[in-house]
Amino acid sequence: MRISIIGAGYVGLVAAACLAKLGNRITLVDVDEEKLKLIANGVSPIHEPELDDILRHVKIETTADYGRIADSELIFVCVGTPSDKEGAMSLEYVAKASERVAEVLKQRTDYCVVTVKSTVVPGTTEERVIPLLEESGKKAGTDFGVCVDPEFLREGKAVYYYMNASRIIIGEFDSRSGDMLMNLYKDFNAPVMRTTTRTAEMIKLASNCFLAAKISLINEIGNICKSHGIDTYEVARGLGYDERIGSKFLNSGIGFGGSCLPKDVRALIAKAKQVGCEPEILEQVLKLNDRQALRMVELLKRHMQLNGTTIGILGLAFKPGTDDVRESRAIRIVQTLIQEGAKIRAYDPVAMEAFKKVFPQIGYTSSEEVLKSDAVLIVTEWEEFKHLDYKGRIVIDGRRVEKAREARIYEGVCW
Ligand code: NAD
Ligand code: UGA
Repeated sequence: MRISIIGAGYVGLVAAACLAKLGNRITLVDVDEEKLKLIANGVSPIHEPELDDILRHVKIETTADYGRIADSELIFVCVGTPSDKEGAMSLEYVAKASERVAEVLKQRTDYCVVTVKSTVVPGTTEERVIPLLEESGKKAGTDFGVCVDPEFLREGKAVYYYMNASRIIIGEFDSRSGDMLMNLYKDFNAPVMRTTTRTAEMIKLASNCFLAAKISLINEIGNICKSHGIDTYEVARGLGYDERIGSKFLNSGIGFGGSCLPKDVRALIAKAKQVGCEPEILEQVLKLNDRQALRMVELLKRHMQLNGTTIGILGLAFKPGTDDVRESRAIRIVQTLIQEGAKIRAYDPVAMEAFKKVFPQIGYTSSEEVLKSDAVLIVTEWEEFKHLDYKGRIVIDGRRVEKAREARIYEGVCW
C-alpha cells in the first residue's frame, strides 16, 4: 500500500520501518530536518534494537514537504501529544499536522484514510481532527475516511512490540476506512477489535492508566513489605499465579517514568475533571509514583550525610534498552541529590548524551568510576549492571539487581 506517516519519532519511525519491511511504499514526514537526514542515510536517531538494521535495508522516502503525501492511501498521524503546563494533553502538534493534511486533501479527488495513531484524549478525533480536516471542503466518511489506531509498543523493544502487537484496536469513523486498516494488518498475528473512534482513544489511555496503577500498587505493597521484613518480589511471585492479577508488571522499585505513562495518567485526570469527575485513584497513582523515586534518597540518608559527598548513579534512561530520558526517575533523583549538596557521577550505556541536555553540570564517566563514589544508586536495571563488582560499596538499589547484594551496605527500595 502507499502509506504516509506524519512524525518520525518512536512510533512513526518504527511503524515506517516495519511497514516498509512488509513491502509497503512509505513516505515519512517530519518538521525536524536533522532527524530526516539521519533516517535518509539509514541511521536511526533513536536507540532501538533492530531499527538500524531495518533502516539500512528498506527504502523510505523522508520529507518535510506535506505535498509528498498526495497519493497515499493511508496517512498515519504519529506526532507527539505531551502534557501542557496544567498536565492536560497538548493537542497542538496533532492540530498542526491535521491542518497540513487538510491542505493536501483539498487537492485530492480520490478516497484516502487519515488515521490518528498518536495517543489522544477521548473525543479528539471527532471534535478536533475531523473539523480541521473538513476545512479542506471535503467530508469525512464520504470523501475521505478517518480511523483511530492506537499504538501499544514499548520502548527498548519497539520493533518487536510493533510486529507482535498484543491487539489491534481499530476505531473507525466510517466502515470503509476500518476495512482498509483491516487489510493493512491482515498478516499480523494479533486479535483485532473494531469500535468507535472515541472508544479506541479511551482504550489506549485506560491501558496506560491500568499499567501505571499496577506499578504504584505493587510499590505501595513493596513499601509495606519492606517495613515488615517481607520480600516483595516473593510476594509478587505468589500473586502472579492468579491469572486475574497476572505475573507481569509487578516489579516494585522506584516507579514509572518515560514519555507516556506519566503524561497519559495526567491527561485522563485532566479530561475527567473537565466534566466534573474526580479521578481519585489516578491522582494517588501519580502522587505515590512521585514519592517513590525519592525513597532512594531517604534510604541513602539513613547511611550518610549528603552534603559534600559524591554519589554515583547507575542508569539514566527511564528503563533499559532505550536512550530516552523523558520523565526518567533519574531526573528527580539527581535534582534532589544536587539540592542536598551532593556531587554526582553518572553512567548509562546509551543515555548519557540525552541526559547531558538536562544536567550538563554533573560528571559522566564509566561504571567502574561510578562504583568508586561514596555511595551508588541503581536507577535503571541495565543488563551490564548485573555483572559489576559491588563488593565494599554502599548501594541503594531501585531496580532489584541481585548481584548488588554483595555490597558492604545494601538497601533495596521495597525489599
Ligand atoms: P516523539 O516525540 O518521539 O516523535 C514525534 C515526532 O513528531 C517528532 O519527530 C516531531 O518532530 C514530529 N512532529 C511534530 N509536529 C509535527 C508536524 N506538525 N508535522 C510533522 N511532524 C511533526 O513521539 P513518540 O514517542 O513517537 O510519540 C508519538 C505519539 O505516540 C504520542 O501521542 C505518544 O503518546 C504515542 N505513543 C508513544 C509510544 C512510545 O513508546 N514512545 C508508544 C505508544 C504510543
Ligand atoms: C508504555 C506501555 O507499556 C506501552 O504499552 C505503551 O504503548 C507505551 O507506554 C506508550 O503509550 O507510550 P513504555 O513507556 O515504553 O511503554 O515503558 P514500560 O515498559 O511500560 O515502562 C514504563 C515505566 O514503568 C519504566 O520506567 C519502568 O521502569 C517502569 N516499570 C515497569 C516498573 O517500575 N515496574 C514494572 O513492573 C514495569
